[in-house]
Amino acid sequence: MFESLLWLEEITSTQDFLKEKPLRIYSVVVANKQKKGRGRFGREWYSQEGGLYLSFSLPKNLRDETTLPLVLSNAVANYVRSLGFLPAIKWVNDVYIHGKKLCGILTERLKDKIVVGIGINLNQESFPEHLQAVSLKMVSGRHFDKVDFLIKLLDYVEESLRKLSEEGFLSFKDEIESRLLFKNSEVILYTPEPVVGILQGIDKDGSLLLLTQDGLKAFQIGEITLRAV
Ligand code: ATP
Ligand code: BTN
Repeated sequence: MFESLLWLEEITSTQDFLKEKPLRIYSVVVANKQKKGRGRFGREWYSQEGGLYLSFSLPKNLRDETTLPLVLSNAVANYVRSLGFLPAIKWVNDVYIHGKKLCGILTERLKDKIVVGIGINLNQESFPEHLQAVSLKMVSGRHFDKVDFLIKLLDYVEESLRKLSEEGFLSFKDEIESRLLFKNSEVILYTPEPVVGILQGIDKDGSLLLLTQDGLKAFQIGEITLRAV
C-alpha cells in the first residue's frame, strides 16, 4: 500500500511537510526529531530523539472521521500487543500503556487527501512530569530498532485499512471496546462543557457512549477531552 519512504533527521513536523509538499498518496515521511511536532488543536507533541514520528497520506474517501483514528489506534495497539505489552485505547486517538500515553494519532482532511500522523514513544528514557507520557523502553528496559518497528507497524496499519474498507467499522468494534481505557469507570468529558458519566463503550459509528444523569448519550469526535474522575 505504501509507496515511498522519506526519512529525515530533523524537521519542523512530518505532518506539515506532508500537507505542504505535493507528494503522492501513500507516501510516508519519518523524522528522528521534530522541532514543532503537534497534536490535535495545535497542542505540542514532544518530539525528542528516541521517538518514532511519522506521517502518511491516504486517498480522500468516505472513511469516517471518528472511526479512522480509532482503527489506527487499534492497529498500533495490535502491534504493541504482539511485542508483549498490554495497550489500552483512549478514545479517540491515543494508545496508553501502564496508565500513560504511549502514542498519539492525528488525522487531518485536506481537499485532496487525508494526512495521518503517528507519534510513538520508543526509546526515550524520561519525559517532563506534566506530560504523563511513557516509552516502551521505560516500561521494558528494551531498545527498539526504529526501522524494524516502522516496517512492521505499517503492515499492521495496511491490514487494518484494508479490513476497514472491506468489512467496515463494525468488524473492529468489539476489539476496540475490549481495550477501551476507562471502560465502566466514571469519566468527565469536556465538550468543552464538562459532562460526567460512566463510560459504556462505543457505538457502531465509533462515537463514545456515556451513561449520564440524563440517560445514555453518544459523543462524536470534536474538541473533546476525556479524563478519569
Ligand atoms: P490528551 O487527553 O492526552 O490531552 P488529546 O488527544 O485530547 O489527548 P492531543 O492534542 O491529541 O490531546 O495530544 C496532545 C497532548 O499529548 C499534549 O497536550 C500533551 O499532553 C501530550 N503529549 C505531548 N507529547 C507527548 C509525547 N511525546 N508522548 C505522550 N504524550 C504527549
Ligand atoms: C495527539 O495525540 O494529539 C496526536 C499526536 C500526533 C503526533 C504525530 S508525530 C508525527 C506527526 N507530526 C506531527 O507534528 N504530529 C504527528
